[in-house]
Amino acid sequence: MAIQCSYDITRSWEENCQRGPQFLEPAGPVPDGPWKTFLGMPVRSRLGIAAGLLANSRWVLPYAKRGFDILTYKTVRSEARECYPLPNWVFVDGEGNPDDPAGPVTVTDRIGDDPTRISSSVCFGMPSVAPGIWRDDVRQARSGLAPGQLLIVSVVATPGPRDGLDELADDFARCAAWAVASGSHAIEANLSCPNVCSAEGTLYHDAEASRLVAQRIRAAIGSVPLLLKLGAFPSDDAMVRLFRAVNGLADGVTMVNCLSRPVLHPNGEPVFGARFRMAGVLGRSIHRPSVEIVRAAKNCLEREKLSLQIAAVGGASTIEDIADFFHAGADAVLCGSSPMYLPDLAIEAKRRHPEW
Ligand SMILES: Cc1cc2nc3c(=O)[nH]c(=O)nc-3n(C[C@H](O)[C@H](O)[C@H](O)COP(=O)(O)O)c2cc1C
Repeated sequence: MAIQCSYDITRSWEENCQRGPQFLEPAGPVPDGPWKTFLGMPVRSRLGIAAGLLANSRWVLPYAKRGFDILTYKTVRSEARECYPLPNWVFVDGEGNPDDPAGPVTVTDRIGDDPTRISSSVCFGMPSVAPGIWRDDVRQARSGLAPGQLLIVSVVATPGPRDGLDELADDFARCAAWAVASGSHAIEANLSCPNVCSAEGTLYHDAEASRLVAQRIRAAIGSVPLLLKLGAFPSDDAMVRLFRAVNGLADGVTMVNCLSRPVLHPNGEPVFGARFRMAGVLGRSIHRPSVEIVRAAKNCLEREKLSLQIAAVGGASTIEDIADFFHAGADAVLCGSSPMYLPDLAIEAKRRHPEW
């Protein structure tokens, strides 16, 4: 059976924004279950979609109707930024070389017939429409949600060539304040994009810089919950340093963003061009490592008696994958790419696990 994709990877990001998701079937009934809490707020479930697929309210609301209750609005900026040229999203051969987990993966157009096995790679460059447009659209998204559904707006700074950390932190805070004014229930600060070359891409490697960003955002948004989006850490020590630095300022962490690997054509050429030989890999091939990172994060938070919650991300495309994350200590589980080809995953998860 051919796999139906709600996002058309052969079209530009702008076209996909305009079209909204394309589904084969209309949404079926969504099972009701007991309410839970996440980030101190009542939710129908602790299942959602990570920053990426939900580019605007045209994308947020149809997925909310399909039972995803924690909806992260794709990262926005304080100024308009164009998307990188196509390709932005490619399928890759699942595991690459199993003996070399950080080694190259190869692009493929043969994704087989099992959507739960798909791995892919993205390189969009965190495009954004102008703030005047996204601020109105966030309002639209928020007003279409049902009670017990949370809208989280992901924000990132856009440093100018001469800007330092102060300006960068202020720009994060500006976007966060705008998103809250538009009705966002919570903010996610993206400190970890593998596909931008400038400083905002890997801020989480610098605990003090991350702390300053969290402080400025906190000052701008009052008591609204704040998540920080993180990638993989080079060591447990680095993770502990970051957690200690932001504890009490952020309410939680979303981890992990993609894992960076060379993404190549079969002839060895980089798929996204020479600047982005290394790109973010997602889906099946990052699930195991993501679960281990979440487990390590949970152990570290308990050991250090820190109060951050964990929104787990990374290759969740089956009920078992979601269970892996809850068992590892996640407070919520977000899918990044899988809702593109498995739009009814939340419905199935709620049917089988009303406690999620
Ligand atoms: C189309 C697409 C766009 C993405 N854009 C963003 C983004 O703007 N900001 C961000 O923090 N993460 C972004 N991501 C990363 C996801 O939030 C998530 O961390 C990643 O896809 C790993 O999850 P997965 O293995 O379930 O796909 C994007 C992912 C996809 C699939």
